[in-house]
Amino acid sequence: MMKIVFLFIVLLLLPAKNESAASTYNKTVSSNYTNFIKTKCNATTYPYPCLKTLIPYASSVKANATRMCTAALNVAIQGARNATLTVKGIRKQKGISTAESAIIRDCIDDLKDAVYELRQTVGAMGHLGDADRDFQWDNAKTYASAVITDVDSCMDGFSGQKVDAAVKKTIRNVVYYVTQLASNALSLINHLY
Ligand SMILES: *[C@@H]1O[C@H](CO)[C@@H](O)[C@H](O)[C@H]1NC(C)=O
Ligand SMILES: *[C@@H]1O[C@H](CO)[C@@H](O)[C@H](O)[C@H]1NC(C)=O
Ligand SMILES: *[C@@H]1O[C@H](CO)[C@@H](O)[C@H](O)[C@H]1NC(C)=O
Ligand SMILES: *[C@@H]1O[C@H](CO)[C@@H](O)[C@H](O)[C@H]1NC(C)=O
Repeated sequence: MMKIVFLFIVLLLLPAKNESAASTYNKTVSSNYTNFIKTKCNATTYPYPCLKTLIPYASSVKANATRMCTAALNVAIQGARNATLTVKGIRKQKGISTAESAIIRDCIDDLKDAVYELRQTVGAMGHLGDADRDFQWDNAKTYASAVITDVDSCMDGFSGQKVDAAVKKTIRNVVYYVTQLASNALSLINHLY
């Protein structure tokens, strides 16, 4: 048993021994990129969803804070679209009452507004290199805050007793994830300069 374990360890170590300087350098660069994401995510409101969604972008972000904000916004757009699909699916389920259906429809509208505002935020982020940087930055922050307001307004629709507890729980969970992604994007934007 010990021998097998030993052999296994040797096999694991073998390629490392032959590693070229270039490959070691590339590894350092790539771990620096990952560390950049980790450090930035650690300062956001919801570090875990930040890490989970943005570590895969480390090599394209390349330790550039602006690119990280844009990646976070694109992830939030994906999250809001996913939530929209889930919520739409729930609305079509059997046994959804008229009152529930109306509340869910309002929530879907809020999520659509959120996607629109997230896109506007990405647009403003694309103009940060322009002469009116501070204006664009303010725009980005305003749009990103509006996203959070919209998502909250969807959640508020489910605060009363009109919606079935299980339906409410599922919707609040998927929508809360959007809140987390959008809050993180906003916090990254706030810390940009
Ligand atoms: C990795 O980060 C360290 C500390 O920030 C820095 O000194 C080093 O030059 C970086 N290495 C590469 C290959 O980017
Ligand atoms: C994350 O933040 C905490 C406190 O804010 C700090 O103690 C910790 O060292 C940070 N970790 C990283 C990886 O930056
Ligand atoms: C970061 O990325 C943005 C967008 O790609 C680019 O305009 C900017 O020059 C980059 N900043 C640095 C410091 O490389
Ligand atoms: C959105 O859904 C797709 C497909 O299920 C998934 O791959 C992706 O990770 C989801 N993104 C977010 C941010 O939830």
